[in-house]
Amino acid sequence: MDAISVIRTKRDRGELSPEQIDWVIDAYTRGEVADEQMSALAMAILLNGMNRTEIARWTAAMIASGERMDFSSLSRPTADKHSTGGVGDKITLPLAPLVAACGAAVPQLSGRGLGHTGGTLDKLESIPGWRALLSNEEMLHVLETTGAVICAAGDGLAPADKKLYALRDVTGTVEAIPLIASSIMSKKIAEGTGSLVLDVKVGSGAFMKNIADARELASTMVGLGTDHGVKTVALLTDMSTPLGLTAGNALEVRESVEVLAGGGPADVVELTIALAREMLDAAGVKDADPAKALADGSAMDVWRRMIAAQGGDPDAPLPVAREQHVVTAPSSGVLTRLDAYGVGVAAWRLGAGRARKEDPVQAGAGVELHAKPGDTVTAGQPLLTLHTDTPEKFDYALKSLEGAYDIAAEGTAYEPAPVVLGRIA
Ligand code: URA
Repeated sequence: MDAISVIRTKRDRGELSPEQIDWVIDAYTRGEVADEQMSALAMAILLNGMNRTEIARWTAAMIASGERMDFSSLSRPTADKHSTGGVGDKITLPLAPLVAACGAAVPQLSGRGLGHTGGTLDKLESIPGWRALLSNEEMLHVLETTGAVICAAGDGLAPADKKLYALRDVTGTVEAIPLIASSIMSKKIAEGTGSLVLDVKVGSGAFMKNIADARELASTMVGLGTDHGVKTVALLTDMSTPLGLTAGNALEVRESVEVLAGGGPADVVELTIALAREMLDAAGVKDADPAKALADGSAMDVWRRMIAAQGGDPDAPLPVAREQHVVTAPSSGVLTRLDAYGVGVAAWRLGAGRARKEDPVQAGAGVELHAKPGDTVTAGQPLLTLHTDTPEKFDYALKSLEGAYDIAAEGTAYEPAPVVLGRIA
C-alpha cells in the first residue's frame, strides 16, 4: 500500500477497497501518511464522494484507531444526543439532566466551538470551577451518581478522527457528507452508548444549508449507527434563525437554567422536550414525562448535582461581559428574518468563539436577541444587544449583522418555520 495510489483511486472517481481504507487510516494515525497526503485524499473525497460501503469501512477504521468505552456496568440504559452544530444551540445543557431525571443515563461527550457555531464545553466552562476533562473512571462515577455527565472525549477515543478533523478544518474539507458522518459516528459508536438521537441542523447557521443534504447526512448516520448495534434516530431541525434568545457561552448557560427552572424561550423548550422523548424512547424508558420533569424541578436537581460533581458551583454568578452595544430596529413592522449565520458570526467576532483551536474564548461575550421572527417591533426599540470584554470588536461584529434581518410592513403575515422539520429512523 502507498498513499499515492489511494489518492489516485479517489481522484479518478474509483471505489476505495476495504484494505486501502484500513491501511490509510491506520498509517495516517501513526504518522506514516503525511498531512499533505491526507488532505489531498480528503479533498478527493469531498469532490467525488464515497458510497455507503466505503463510508461504513472508513467509520469502522476510525473506531478501530482507538479505545471503546463500555457502559454495560450501569444499572440504567444509556442514551446520547449529538447535534451537528448551530447558533444558540444550548440544548445539551437542559437535555442531559432532563433525560437523566426521566430514568436514562446520559454519557454526553461534547466538543468546543469552532467557527460561528458554539461548543457545549465552552458554554459550561463559563460556570466557575466546572471541569470538562475527566478520566474514564471519573466520567463513569459522575454518570453513576448523577445520571448524566457532559465532558470532553478522552484522547484515546477515535484518535484518527481527532487528527483528521483538525486537518479538514484548515483545508476546506469539513463540508463532505461522508467525512462528517464518519467523524461524528466513529466517536459516538466508540463512546459505547446504547442509543443515540441525532439533531441534524438545517439552514444558514448549520453545515447543511438545505433539507436534501441534511436528509442524506441524517440517513447515512442512522445507517452507520444501526449497523453497529446503536439504536439511532435523527431529527432534522431548523437553524435558519438562532435557537432561543442568546448566542454566547455564559449567556446560553443562563438561558438553559431558565429552561430547567420551567421557563425559557418556547423554541428551546420545544426542541429539548422533542429530543428527550426520542432519547427515552430509543433507550426503552417508558412512561416518563419530560415536560413534567422540567416543571417539577427534578431536571434542575440533576443539573445541580451534575455541575457540582464536575467541580462547578451551580449557585455562582455567571460572568458578564464588560461592554454592551445595543442594535435598534431601524423601522416598525414585523421581523420576518433574523439570520442564524449573521448572529453566529457576530457572537464569534465578539469573542464567544475562536479562530484557531488553541484560542481562548470570552465567557461573557455573545449576542442577546430581543425579538424573534414573527414578532412586531417598533422603530428604535432594542433588537439585539452585543456583549464583549473587548469593545474594539463591536464594528467588526456589526458588519456581520448588515443585511441579517428583515422588517416588513406592519400586518404582514408571517408563517413560522417549524422547529422540527423531519425525522429519520
Ligand atoms: N462534528 C464532528 O464531530 N465532525 C464533523 O466532521 C463535523 C461536525
